[in-house]
Amino acid sequence: MKKISVLFVCLGNICRSPAAEAIFISLIEKNGLTDGFIVDSAGTGSWHIGKKADSRMRIAASRRDLNILSRARQITSKDFDQFNYILAMDDSNFRNIQDLKNRTTSTDFSSINKIQNFRSVFNEQEVPDPYFGGDEGFDYVLDILEDSVSGFLASIS
Ligand code: 4NP
Repeated sequence: MKKISVLFVCLGNICRSPAAEAIFISLIEKNGLTDGFIVDSAGTGSWHIGKKADSRMRIAASRRDLNILSRARQITSKDFDQFNYILAMDDSNFRNIQDLKNRTTSTDFSSINKIQNFRSVFNEQEVPDPYFGGDEGFDYVLDILEDSVSGFLASIS
């Protein structure tokens, strides 16, 4: 059977989208669905290409038994042909993804959405950027994403 491919996207690809990716990977593992998916994350920006996720996010995630292994990369027009679902963390990411799509001749295979459209517990319309804030912001991002990422998985399964 053809795998379902999912790409989580934020600005730097070192805080929010690697966390969303790790939460999704953990959820599909727990549900015996790993073989059915290709999962990745990317940033709209290029500053952190090749870097590990921010250590503050890796530490907060490890307290929840989530292992963030990804290395930052930038989204490219090829991603529109390769991923079924592209999920933006905030409105700015969403607009930047749409702008990139409009500048390319992609076959537009992807469904582009905001991850917070799948929320049920938290009211946040966007996943707040924790990069310039304190450690508690990283835990809050994980709380929000555990809710909306599981809502997304439920919506497609
Ligand atoms: P992310 O967080 O988009 O969740 O990875 C950020 C990481 C780095 C920067 C901004 C946001 N930055 O400005 O370098």
